[in-house]
Amino acid sequence: MTHSRAIKIAPSILSADFAAFGAECEAIEAQGADWVHVDVMDGHFVPNITFGPQLCKAIRPHIRTVMDVHLMISPVDPYIAAFADAGADIITAHLEAGPHIHRTLQAIRAAGARAGLALNPGTPIDAVEHLLDMTDLICVMTVNPGFGGQKFIHSQIDKVRRLRAMIGDRPIHIEIDGGITPETAPLVTSAGADVLVAGSAVFKGGSVADPTPYGANIRAIRQAAESALRNAA
Ligand code: DX5
Ligand code: ZN
Repeated sequence: MTHSRAIKIAPSILSADFAAFGAECEAIEAQGADWVHVDVMDGHFVPNITFGPQLCKAIRPHIRTVMDVHLMISPVDPYIAAFADAGADIITAHLEAGPHIHRTLQAIRAAGARAGLALNPGTPIDAVEHLLDMTDLICVMTVNPGFGGQKFIHSQIDKVRRLRAMIGDRPIHIEIDGGITPETAPLVTSAGADVLVAGSAVFKGGSVADPTPYGANIRAIRQAAESALRNAA
């Protein structure tokens, strides 16, 4: 796939109806989602438990775009093959999840997926420098991972700007995860982000039975994100 820095909206199914994941994936794609973001939590690396590779495998036939799997688990390496076999296009691991993130990123690519690297809000970007050439996406967490519906942490905007400069011409996406709304989206796209994860702001007001609010919510985030770029140009 060629690298594009066009704005992509990636709804997180953490805010979907847990009894209807397949239908929810189809609904958000029909309503304009570019990617589907899947939040895997283990109750150990983060204080919440969601789902694992079997759920990813079950929803894969309901996703036509990109299955973007965010692993908030530790350890990571024993599970990479299972998520790759489940059809993940992108597998993102946290820099804080263990001492051998370099090995983890190598293993993700070796398993045939694109490799993502996530940073908690308290993690500085210095540690990313020697990982850039093995990374396809950097996920800047703008909340502490574990739950949807938290407040955007503004101090991360400067981190995005500095990361963007560090990345230069490399084909690496900058993804923002946490607290994205039409109000916060322009702050991060003008700093250099191109993938916006949004859970509560996409799913609010809608349902599988009435998914049109998902479309309105996605359009509102996209328009705000893109207008910031136009104003900056
Ligand atoms: C948080 C997850 C996010 C979360 C975002 O740990 O990684 O993907 O679902 O939810 P909102 O958009 O509601 O902040
Ligand atoms: Zn996430």
